[in-house]
Amino acid sequence: MPRHVACIPDGNGRWSQLRNGSRIAGHNQGAQVFHDLITSACELGIEWFTVYAFSAENWQRPEIEVRFIASTIERTIYRWLDDCSRYNIRIRWIGRAEMRIPRALRRAIDYATSTTKNNTGMTLTVAYNYGGRDEIVDAIRKIIEDGVDAADLNSELVSRYLYAPDMPDPDLVIRTSGENRISNFLLWQLAYSELVFTPALWPDFTVDHLLDAIHEYQRRVRRFGTVDDGNKKLDTQLQ
Ligand code: IPE
Ligand code: IPE
Ligand code: MG
Repeated sequence: MPRHVACIPDGNGRWSQLRNGSRIAGHNQGAQVFHDLITSACELGIEWFTVYAFSAENWQRPEIEVRFIASTIERTIYRWLDDCSRYNIRIRWIGRAEMRIPRALRRAIDYATSTTKNNTGMTLTVAYNYGGRDEIVDAIRKIIEDGVDAADLNSELVSRYLYAPDMPDPDLVIRTSGENRISNFLLWQLAYSELVFTPALWPDFTVDHLLDAIHEYQRRVRRFGTVDDGNKKLDTQLQ
């Protein structure tokens, strides 16, 4: 079982447009999908689940959509709270803390974070106003401010300056809607993650799709730059 699953829930707008609705109605359906998925993820024993809710680049969308997404996330967070206490889920947020995050959403995130902080089950991290490059830039800025010597710089140290230093790197990343890209998500942490792309639009994503992605992950051989065990054995036999 992957310990950390991260997901890029894409296709809300297209799902909505296909139904002749406005783009924004799809975000509502997308939020509903999450609600169903989170409890299944807990039951499967996934320890960390991270969702890309709104990217640093998504501010460039029409203001009405930006506001609708924020209020949808806010409502969804409050609705999650019941499940969080039942399933012992800890909610957290990663992203750049900026004034432009709507105040009501900020309040919802702060409330959910503080009321669930002592939960010891799955950690559900919401990436909002998040950009992978921003995260690395922010880490470098803090490293410089702390006066770290260039000779002491290494990847473990950089990891400690990321938004969630205790978060393990994702094992599995799932992106929906048939787009095969990362779109500035967890750039540092995805170095050796397994990527699964599925054509399903996010509002059509079900627990079965999640299970399919996990099965696909279980079929992969993760080498981390080394050779897999089968090859090692063959090598020893040849010596
Ligand atoms: C993903 O769905 C949700 C967010 C970015 C918040 P989109 O809104 O990007 O849907 P498409 O890609 O336009 O269909
Ligand atoms: C990625 O989706 C961001 C989120 C799901 C929040 P986008 O729809 O913004 O990505 P691009 O623009 O297709 O790369
Ligand atoms: Mg999209």
